[in-house]
Amino acid sequence: MTSPQQPWWSGGVLYQAYPRSFADSNDDGIGDLAGLRGRLEYLDWLGVDGIWLNPTFPSPNRDWGYDVSDYFGVQPDLGTLEDLDALIAAAGELGIRILLDLVPAHTSDQHEWFVESRSSRESPRRRWYIWSDEADEQESAFGGGAWAYDERTRQYYHHLFLPEQPDLNWMLPDVRDVFDEILRFWFDRGVAGLRIDVVHELVKDPPSRPNRPEVHNVLRRWRSLADGYEPERLLVGETWVMDVDELASFYGRNDELQLAFNFPFMFAGLDATALAGVVERTDAALPDGALPVWALSNHDVVRFPTRMCDEDDAKVRSALLALLTLRGTSFLYYGDELGMRQVAISPDRVRDVHARDGARTPMPWSDAEWRDPWLPLGGKVATVASQRGDPGSVLSFCRDVIALRRARVDLVSGGYTPLDSPTGVWTWRRGGATGIALNLTDSEAAMPLEGEVLLSTKGRNDPSRLEPWEGVVVALT
Ligand code: GLC
Ligand code: CA
Repeated sequence: MTSPQQPWWSGGVLYQAYPRSFADSNDDGIGDLAGLRGRLEYLDWLGVDGIWLNPTFPSPNRDWGYDVSDYFGVQPDLGTLEDLDALIAAAGELGIRILLDLVPAHTSDQHEWFVESRSSRESPRRRWYIWSDEADEQESAFGGGAWAYDERTRQYYHHLFLPEQPDLNWMLPDVRDVFDEILRFWFDRGVAGLRIDVVHELVKDPPSRPNRPEVHNVLRRWRSLADGYEPERLLVGETWVMDVDELASFYGRNDELQLAFNFPFMFAGLDATALAGVVERTDAALPDGALPVWALSNHDVVRFPTRMCDEDDAKVRSALLALLTLRGTSFLYYGDELGMRQVAISPDRVRDVHARDGARTPMPWSDAEWRDPWLPLGGKVATVASQRGDPGSVLSFCRDVIALRRARVDLVSGGYTPLDSPTGVWTWRRGGATGIALNLTDSEAAMPLEGEVLLSTKGRNDPSRLEPWEGVVVALT
């Protein structure tokens, strides 16, 4: 679908699957890799180019896989290394690439590196983590201080997240070296790329301050490693910054990340001025030749239909249409394609330390699919089984948009050009001959584009006006 000089993800749609909640092959209530393999047919039907799996590494699960205790293995709940190999192979046959989630900023406190590091001040691994005689006022992301006191060696260690997630010392060459090995281990197995956790705060200069220039040095090092593979491996960063110029800095001179997640877009709200503004500022800020990347939901934030669409499917369709027709690479979070809502979690079912369970509930395949799932099913959205056969469902709509995107070269590789619109309507052109207009208001609007309506969020075909919350793709004349 892409021209030979473009990487495979250019113009592509990627899918974020949260493995514990995606599909369960052995009825233990926990999604697993074999379950995911069994659902590749669905993802192929939907039309995705790749899948990012949330962490698959062994972990005590204090932060659900983001506390890694072994970077070379697979979490037993999810399966084995052989299951991961089989998933990569089966997906590859369908032309679907697999990305893993690398968590380099911290390990689990159970990781052998930390066990050694905390064993004595003289340990050869002492300096792999950030130790200090004093704790400053810095807060951790989950509340409480960012320093934990270790009785045995009478020093504090630094943790930006939980105390069970001690931060690695990325100023140390040994740490950089071992991660090169980790990257190669997975790339050699056929992993197509990595989503990189908290990459913007990867390097702390002891005692603890973020060191951005050093983050960029590490990213250049990883990029040249990734570029050494055929096809080049993809590095997509969790760059949680709200300023687009800062965001753009993680692409370097096209020699750092190939994609950096755009949180200003995720949090803009369903508002024409705000969304158009973020997209235009992003386009202007990125280095020439770089691709933007768009997402509306992920495992850390409230699902977009609840957060920005008032759980109104007309709005959900318009948001999906925007997500999937912008220039660059788009990520769907599992369930986005169904219009899956945030699920209310009763206190006795809470599993996460930071109240994110409601965005991580099991994929509703059918009414009979899950037995005793680790998190409750929401029940507020129609299942895959009922939506797949219904041409009027959100799922069918989402698949239609992806199919149109793949079939129309403007939507794969055409540039983004903003067009004049009535207030509250967001209108743009892709390439030479494709227009998109979204009426993000409660009132009817005049159609700002001239041509044939190829697709409408409302299944209409009216070249003269837009209903409230209607979005269209138009072949421009
Ligand atoms: C990232 C992850 C999040 C995790 C945190 C600590 O923000 O997306 O789920 O809790 O890093 O690793
Ligand atoms: Ca299972």
